[in-house]
Amino acid sequence: MKIFLDTANLDEIRKGADWGIVDGVTTNPSLIAKEGRPIEEQVRMICDIVDGDISAEVVATEASEMIREGQKLAKIHKNIVVKLPLIRDGIKACAALSKEGIRTNVTLCFSANQALLAAKAGAYIISPFVGRLDDISHDGMELIHNICTIYENYGFKTQVLAASLRHPLHVQDSALAGAHIGTMPFKVLDMLFNHPLTDRGLDQFLKDHAKAFQETGAKR
Ligand code: E4P
Repeated sequence: MKIFLDTANLDEIRKGADWGIVDGVTTNPSLIAKEGRPIEEQVRMICDIVDGDISAEVVATEASEMIREGQKLAKIHKNIVVKLPLIRDGIKACAALSKEGIRTNVTLCFSANQALLAAKAGAYIISPFVGRLDDISHDGMELIHNICTIYENYGFKTQVLAASLRHPLHVQDSALAGAHIGTMPFKVLDMLFNHPLTDRGLDQFLKDHAKAFQETGAKR
């Protein structure tokens, strides 16, 4: 599973990229707004840090405006993927942009039928939101399973991006379900490293090493 960071914060993106495990970045209008720069500027800076798919979302809600905005965003950098909301006009814009060879990420997906429409429209990525479904007592992970099954049944090329991942178990379960991509906040990525037995084991190894070489005075 590819790992994407779900943030527009440059410090977080640099830290994640330094670990060598970040394949891409997803942003949305809320995440861009937090950083205080225009979207064009912010995503260009993100593209300079991570060499992978960088999603930039349109804010228009009418198809022809979405297409114009998407074309403009796609010109910023070759790695930009145009993010479109899963509404009727979004699907129309997705079909048009896909025909032009512009890669799209259809977002705000909450049902398998919506994901089917996005795939039919040629979406490069579909983004089902796991956490937001869990928030309203629906099983978000079941949606990932269902979309993966439907796409496999018909050989759709659209990649399933598990979004709105809130904790490490969401990441593990998305990978088990067969999601192609998991996008997560920096905090969640950082948590994936943690295991008390790793810390305890390393502590013991280092203590044993220090003790042996201090006692014998031997060189390492
Ligand atoms: C991803 O593309 C979405 O913008 C994001 O994962 C939403 O996450 P949230 O539900 O935690 O805001």
